[in-house]
Amino acid sequence: MLIHWGQRFETGITEIDREHRHLVDLTNSLSASLEKPEPHILQSVFMQLAGYICHHLVSEETLAAHHRVDAALQQRLQQEHQAFVAEIGRLQKKMESDPVHTAQALQACLTDFINHHVLVTDFELAAALPKEHPQRHHEASEAEHRVRTLHGVGGKS
Ligand SMILES: [Fe+2]
Repeated sequence: MLIHWGQRFETGITEIDREHRHLVDLTNSLSASLEKPEPHILQSVFMQLAGYICHHLVSEETLAAHHRVDAALQQRLQQEHQAFVAEIGRLQKKMESDPVHTAQALQACLTDFINHHVLVTDFELAAALPKEHPQRHHEASEAEHRVRTLHGVGGKS
């Protein structure tokens, strides 16, 4: 099932929202690939997702450390990230021998992460970061949307 990007995902922190949107796009690519599964495509989407997830988690932890957010929140963020990375690593080992079931498990794992981490802990992180000018955020989202539309990706919120 596709995830539709909408206001409920927007934390108001441009960098986090941009990265979450890309994560949702990649999750949707995985779902689309599962409709007519081809092992090499599933493996390619899996690798893209694994790489992007690592980049995104480091980016959030760096942001949290840079702005010295509450230590307990930083610790929870790191613990949830580590658990997610461990699960991705576990799935990665099974990808070659059983791509379809592994990709389905990854899809479930991503949906769970989006619902229980992105929409909960990441919102707490965003609330603990310095506020951006709302207009600046709006303009950034608009600009990004235009670029994405030009490249024929996204735009289905
Ligand atoms: Fe996140």
